[in-house]
Amino acid sequence: MLLTTQLLGVFLRVLSNLVLNELFQPFLILKLFCLINALLIPLMTTNQPNLLLKVPIGLLQIPAIAKNKIKTGSRKIKLSLVIPTYNERENIPTIVHKLTQLLNDVIPNAYELIVVDDNSPDLTWEVAQKIKPEYPQLQVMLREKERGLSTAVIRGWQIAGGEILGVIDADLQHPPETILKLLAEMERGADLAVASRHIEEGGVSEWNIIRRLLSRGAQVLGLIILPGVVGRVSDPMSGYFMVRREVLAGKTLNPKGYKILIEVLGRGNIRCLGEVGYVFQERLEGKSKVAWKQYIEYLQHLLTLRLAKWPVGRFTRFGIVGFSGVFVDIAIFYLLRKTIGLGLTRSAVLSAEVGIINNFLWNDLWTFRDISRSQRGWPKRVKRLLKFNLICLTALIFNLLIVNLLFNLFGVNEYLAKLIAIATVTLWNFWINMKLSWRVTQVDK
Ligand code: GDD
Ligand code: MN
Repeated sequence: MLLTTQLLGVFLRVLSNLVLNELFQPFLILKLFCLINALLIPLMTTNQPNLLLKVPIGLLQIPAIAKNKIKTGSRKIKLSLVIPTYNERENIPTIVHKLTQLLNDVIPNAYELIVVDDNSPDLTWEVAQKIKPEYPQLQVMLREKERGLSTAVIRGWQIAGGEILGVIDADLQHPPETILKLLAEMERGADLAVASRHIEEGGVSEWNIIRRLLSRGAQVLGLIILPGVVGRVSDPMSGYFMVRREVLAGKTLNPKGYKILIEVLGRGNIRCLGEVGYVFQERLEGKSKVAWKQYIEYLQHLLTLRLAKWPVGRFTRFGIVGFSGVFVDIAIFYLLRKTIGLGLTRSAVLSAEVGIINNFLWNDLWTFRDISRSQRGWPKRVKRLLKFNLICLTALIFNLLIVNLLFNLFGVNEYLAKLIAIATVTLWNFWINMKLSWRVTQVDK
């Protein structure tokens, strides 16, 4: 009896399990299906014709390893070319078509075109989306919150899969054929390859004198404020170039306005540089977005980079030392006048000289100690002192010149004039001394 009930129990349990399993099977399959979908959908996003690229948020940093490696699977991307657009609906099909033709010949399947549109009123992004089925290498990003050419390019690069990152205008003013020359430069080992209007085979088509002057003026301004950056290429204003991912990886970029190349030059670790000539074409469709705002932003950008490269610690020490010199100068002047009774000019000259020597010693032992340590010995130290002295003298002349100019010519209040002169001369003094007396070739510290 007991055995039969036990057997019956087992039988019932097996039966119920079977029934329940059968019942729940569809749910189980559904669950599994959902799981697979959840895993696969992100992997397939780029292949879905109607999906837009996700806009990265946060800092403008390029990852060292391409984020979308997973998405592209085994397909290795060499070049990611960003095409920034704002109201370029007439141009986008042509530029995409031409670039595809050119790149399919040399690196088929190993490139991607990334259109980054800032929510253009003419719906450029939609036009780009529509032609996507014809161009499997094309992807589109639509930015609704941020705006601006430079950040658009970086947002595109952030999701790029290539080892080489590039940019080209959408309006066909950058001849698409030049892309092959840029690529060739990169393959020859360049870290940065720039299409330039100012070397052989380069030029502008029909620019009027004003536009030429403005463009060159901007370049000269850049050379004054950031010689080491702007002076490295013949066309620092170019918006047509390629750069190796690794030279930008991990750097926080902070560009303003239009001139993304300045940012790349200023912050990237670029050793090997290539340039190819191109003629800046006339715009056939659409309008240029350059306005006065871009010139102001350019200046702001230059100054931000300048500040980022300025050796703040060293300059602060130099300032403190300079301040101490004022007190030494006055104290010695007082001593010479009151205790020895020396004449006014002699006391002033002597006390100024003691002040200069005081500044020199502190700068040598403290401000520039790392450099003076590597240039030991008294002869060298005396040489540095003489240079320092000479530079201080030129600074004095400079000081007088500025005060006079501001006060007599521009009618600036004399104390304000003096203040401006002191500030300018301090900067000059510091910079020239760093370059000549304590020669710092590497000023990144
Ligand atoms: N996403 C996005 N957002 N794209 C923009 C924006 C923006 O705010 N502003 C302009 N663009 C796109 C344009 O649609 C075009 O594809 C490209 O950036 C260049 O803009 P243009 O307005 O045509 O500039 P340009 O012809 O005056 O200046 C060009 O020449 C300079 C050399 O003098 C640009 O190529 C510069 O990059 C280049 O340095
Ligand atoms: Mn243009």
